[in-house]
Amino acid sequence: MSGEDAATQQQQPQPEQEAQKPQDPPASPKAQGNTPTTEERTTISYRALVLTGYGGYDKIKLQVKTVPQPELKAGEVLVRVKACGLNFAELMGRQGLYDALPSPPVTMGMEGAGVVEAVADGVEDKKVSVGDRVIVLARSGVWQEVVVVPADRAIIMPDQMSFEEGAALPINYLTAYLMLFEMANIKPGKSVLIHMAAGGVGIAATQLCQTVQDVTIFGTASASKHETIAQGGVTHPIDYRTKDYVEEVRKISPQGVDIVLDPLGGSDTQKGYNLLKPMGSIIVFGAANGVTGQKRNLLALAKLWYHQLSLSSLKLMQANKSVGGFHLGYLKDEELITQTMVKLLEFYSQGKIKPKIDSCFHFEEVSVFSSEPTNHIRGICIIVFKLISPFVIK
Ligand SMILES: NC(=O)c1ccc[n+]([C@@H]2O[C@H](COP(=O)([O-])OP(=O)(O)OC[C@H]3O[C@@H](n4cnc5c(N)ncnc54)[C@H](OP(=O)(O)O)[C@@H]3O)[C@@H](O)[C@H]2O)c1
Repeated sequence: MSGEDAATQQQQPQPEQEAQKPQDPPASPKAQGNTPTTEERTTISYRALVLTGYGGYDKIKLQVKTVPQPELKAGEVLVRVKACGLNFAELMGRQGLYDALPSPPVTMGMEGAGVVEAVADGVEDKKVSVGDRVIVLARSGVWQEVVVVPADRAIIMPDQMSFEEGAALPINYLTAYLMLFEMANIKPGKSVLIHMAAGGVGIAATQLCQTVQDVTIFGTASASKHETIAQGGVTHPIDYRTKDYVEEVRKISPQGVDIVLDPLGGSDTQKGYNLLKPMGSIIVFGAANGVTGQKRNLLALAKLWYHQLSLSSLKLMQANKSVGGFHLGYLKDEELITQTMVKLLEFYSQGKIKPKIDSCFHFEEVSVFSSEPTNHIRGICIIVFKLISPFVIK
C-alpha cells in the first residue's frame, strides 16, 4: 500500500493515557540549531504506536506523547525516526508471547532508520554527528518519531540506502548472518533448508547463502511466492501447505541437508533434525507454529510444547549432529552485533544483499491492520506477501 493511499483510512492520534515507559526518549535539544520557546524548552511531543494491552492489532494505538525534556546521558544520541521495521517478534509481543518486551503500555519496535538530531558528550569523536543518517537498534521503543539510543546502536547508513531499507535490514539480516556464519559455519558446496523462505529472515538468509559458492537452498513457502523466492535464489522452492517438505527434500537429496534454519518449532524441529546429514546443524530460532491467529492460541502453544525436540546427549553424540538455538533479543555481545552490522552494510554497498520491502504504512494506518482478516498467512495478518513493512512517517 502506498503512502498516498493512507488518507482514506487514517486513525487520529490519541492523547497519551498511560504513564511513560522507560524507553521514551529523554530528549535534549541542546545540539539543535533553533532557539526553542519557553514551552518547547520544557517539553517534547512526538507520535508513537503504543501496545495498550495484549491481543489483536486493535491493541496498537497511535498516541501523541508529550514528555519533559531531560538531558541526554553521556554517550547517547537522539534520532528522528523516518521509518521503522515490523518483525515477527512484535506480532508475538502483541500476543504476550515475547518476554523480552516490557508489559503494556509499551511502544514496540526494535529497528528503524532516521537522522541524528542531537549528540551527547562522551560519543567518540566523529563516530556519529548531527545530521547523519543512521540505522537504530533497540530492545523496544522504536515505533515512535524520536528515540534515544547509545551511539553504538546508531550505525551510519550507506548513502544509497533508503530509510525504508535501513529500517528493514537489521533484525532480519543480523539473525540470518549470525545463524549461518557464526553458528552453522556455512561453507561452499553445502545445502540449507530455509523455512518461511518468503519472510524477512528467509529472504535475508537466501541472499546471504549466495555470498558463499555453490550453496543449494531448499525453501518452504506458499506456492504463490515460489516465483519470487526462486528469482531471489532459492534453488528448490517447496509448497509446505500442499506437500510434505521432508519427502520433497529427500526426493532431491536422499541424504538430507547440511543446515536447517528452524523458525517453526514443535514437530518441525524433530523433522529438521532427522533431515540433517551427519555433521549437519539445525539452528532453532523461532516458534511460529505457536502463533496461529491474531490472539494467543493456547492449544497451538500446548501442541508446540508437547512436540518439541527431546534428545539425550548420548543420542546426539552418536548422530554426529549439532543443535543450536539463536535469539537476537538475548544476545548481549554488543561488539559482535556492531561488527556484524558493519559486515552487512559492506555486503549492501557491494550489491550482495538488498532488503526486499513489501509494503509501507503511515503511522496513522495502524487501524488498517485491525480490520485485516486473520487467516491470510497463519496469523501473520498484515500483508499477504510480507517481507518487512516499515511504518513510514511523513
Ligand atoms: N530468534 C531470533 O532472534 C529471531 C529474529 C527474527 C525472526 N525470528 C523468527 O523467524 C521467524 C520468521 O520471522 P520473519 O520476521 O521472517 O517472518 P515474516 O516476515 O512475518 O514472514 C513470515 C512468512 O513465513 C511464511 N510462513 C508461515 N508459516 C510457515 C511455515 N510453516 N513454513 C514455511 N513458511 C511459513 C509466510 O508466508 P507463507 O506461509 O504464505 O509462505 C510468511 O511469508 C519467526 O518465527 C520469528 O520469530 C527469530
